Amino acid sequence: MSTLIVGANGATGRLLVEELLNRGQRVKIVVRSLNSLPEKLKGHANLSMIEESILDMSHADMATLVRGCHAVVSCLGHNLTFRGIYGRPRRLVTDATNRLCNAIRKNEATEPIKFILMNTTGNRNHDLDERISIGQKCVIGLLRLLLPPHVDNEKAANYLRTKIGQNDPHIRWVAVRPDGLIDDAEVTNYKIFKSPTRSAIFDAGVTSRINVAFFMAELINTKKTWDMWKGKMPVIYNSV
Ligand SMILES: NC(=O)c1ccc[n+]([C@@H]2O[C@H](COP(=O)([O-])OP(=O)(O)OC[C@H]3O[C@@H](n4cnc5c(N)ncnc54)[C@H](OP(=O)(O)O)[C@@H]3O)[C@@H](O)[C@H]2O)c1
Repeated sequence: MSTLIVGANGATGRLLVEELLNRGQRVKIVVRSLNSLPEKLKGHANLSMIEESILDMSHADMATLVRGCHAVVSCLGHNLTFRGIYGRPRRLVTDATNRLCNAIRKNEATEPIKFILMNTTGNRNHDLDERISIGQKCVIGLLRLLLPPHVDNEKAANYLRTKIGQNDPHIRWVAVRPDGLIDDAEVTNYKIFKSPTRSAIFDAGVTSRINVAFFMAELINTKKTWDMWKGKMPVIYNSV
């Protein structure tokens, strides 16, 4: 059994690849270019690599891709360039989530497959009564108008919440919500909450990418962690 990671050469994705390989897991990745993947990962015996853009894959190829994987993780995000933010694909994360879930369903595995989405504290879990200030509502409204990647992140999580839901026979999901991402060399203490405990706009906290990767690996490998957070949108902050 192995884990498929898309967005695997991104700043968080590559840390998750490394964490899972260090735990002795098998990992499959799809990346647009292998050039941007660290050399230390490329030669690893437990890593299988496909060089292709995830949204260019046919449905049949995607079903083959996810076959044999017990977990699928999206660390996709729009590149922070004008083209990445305003160009196509406008719904990179949502479309990849949708198509990967369709591929998982098509395979009709006997046990549900874990789907983990990297999301954001800027998105609310509408299954819960997550309240935000009027000021934050206005800023988020503006972000929806001005920043297509924000809408993409919202739609991707909403897809899991409303279209996959809690009782899909083939998929169980978790949408991990980090706050302001920073780079750190090592895993540090972090805390997980069911909802944000601070304003993502006016009082943002910090979350190390390496802590996000570690928590995702825990979700994949630790039954207790998975059972606690499946079907939810846990928020992760570094402990201060
Ligand atoms: N920045 C923050 O403070 C913050 C906070 C909370 C949540 N987030 C969310 O966290 C997620 C990941 O963050 P990160 O910093 O780890 O991301 P990142 O380093 O920008 O990585 C993004 C990944 O997506 C891939 N990608 C981008 N455009 C693509 C396309 N058109 N087709 C296929 N793959 C594509 C990139 O591949 P290439 O290398 O080929 O481009 C890369 O692997 C994002 O969704 C972001 O919105 C960010």
